[in-house]
Amino acid sequence: MFKFQGDRNSLLKDLAVRVSQVWSSFDSARESEPEVSNQTLSILSEDLPRSGRGETLTLSQAVDILDQSTAQSRPRFFAYIGSSGLEMGAVADFLASSYDINLAVDSKAATLLERQAARWIGQFIGYDDNAKGLFTSGGTISNITALAAARTKRFPNARKEGVRDRVAIYCSQEAHYSNIRAVELLGFGSEAIRSIEIDQNRRMKMEDFEAAIKDDIANGVVPLAVIASSGTTLTGAVDPLDAIADICEKYGIWFHVDGAYGAPAAGTAKAEDLFKGLSRADSVTIDAHKWLFVPKACSIVLMKNYEPLVRTFSHNEAYMPHDNDEPNAVDITLEYSRPVRALKMWMGFAAHGADEFEAAITANLELADLTYDLAKNSDDFRVLPNRPQLSIVPIQYTPAGMKDASGLNRRIYEEILEDGRIYLSPATIDSEIWLRPCYTNFRTTSADVDALFEVIRDLGQRLAPEFS
Ligand SMILES: Cc1ncc(COP(=O)(O)O)c(C=O)c1O
Repeated sequence: MFKFQGDRNSLLKDLAVRVSQVWSSFDSARESEPEVSNQTLSILSEDLPRSGRGETLTLSQAVDILDQSTAQSRPRFFAYIGSSGLEMGAVADFLASSYDINLAVDSKAATLLERQAARWIGQFIGYDDNAKGLFTSGGTISNITALAAARTKRFPNARKEGVRDRVAIYCSQEAHYSNIRAVELLGFGSEAIRSIEIDQNRRMKMEDFEAAIKDDIANGVVPLAVIASSGTTLTGAVDPLDAIADICEKYGIWFHVDGAYGAPAAGTAKAEDLFKGLSRADSVTIDAHKWLFVPKACSIVLMKNYEPLVRTFSHNEAYMPHDNDEPNAVDITLEYSRPVRALKMWMGFAAHGADEFEAAITANLELADLTYDLAKNSDDFRVLPNRPQLSIVPIQYTPAGMKDASGLNRRIYEEILEDGRIYLSPATIDSEIWLRPCYTNFRTTSADVDALFEVIRDLGQRLAPEFS
């Protein structure tokens, strides 16, 4: 069954050549993004083939299709908070799929590797040298996992009885939507969310946070958890973690840090001060597929021990053996069948070392500084009043005489998509439309930042008269 039409080794050689070309193509920017070719459109409209076309042709078609797709690994993809397809991570994916180990039950060495990789991430961000953790498919799942653990901690019978009390969950107005979803899915209802106002640095206001808790307690509502953002998606703001930890201790509230994007910066000398108090969190979400550069999908939720997770997820099923005293992965996760996602991070750290990761994140932080300074010191750009805390730098093109900066920047964004030299997304901040470069790609350099400004100016100058 599934015999190769050619030879397995020649497929591997072909693959090596193709992947090497792909990786080289990520090293520098393309002149523009290619259109989806007619040939690709025709391949992608075919019905199910009853007989195979052979591995060589299939491989070449797959590469063409991926090459005509939007990929964040390219150095001038400034949009969103992407990953960069670190080569060791891609190799790990190939190996993990080849072995196809299921990390649902104890899988011997792979299980130990997952625990070690979690520990390494905990050490990298300075959370806990012995952190326990599990890899998930993304920040969305990590956040709901953490919140489910918070629920069981406060309501040990919640799995059986549900939660009858009214509860409150606190987060900044700019917390990521996945957290709201988690609250909805866990049955608390989105009205349980207390969206706390932000200060001029776009961080949760501590007086408002504490006042909301007191108000809830006075009204018989249980303050269940806080979701602190360590790197908001909109502007990269890091909530004051130490102050939040103090308040959580005072009122017995679960302290979750959504560091899906920003937490890796805690592992840099340049940004670590922003994360003071991170080590006091009950749980932390980190997306390795964002700022630890490995390919999707690879997130992790870290805790100090497995106990809250065991109490939240474990089941004793006749078909699920326990080979040792440790919990099976299915006892501590929402998922059942699980690939060895941890291999990406393990191979990344093992091959390159933590210092290299720190250097790459620091380089991104420096590009953010550079972008802020270039925009601030020019006559035709505007920046937010405070410097970026991490690597997201909203900028607005505002040449002299501009009457509708939001309108102009929206049009620039639309033209950028057509133009194809760079890729950038807009964001609405305080009801205005900004362009929002994000630096989470180790391939991006200062020459790419220059290109960013050049393209915005080039398109902006052409479009500006419509908005002046
Ligand atoms: C702060 C934050 N939390 C959670 C998420 C969701 O992560 P994922 O897309 O991996 O599910 C994101 C995604 O951008 C994010 O920025």
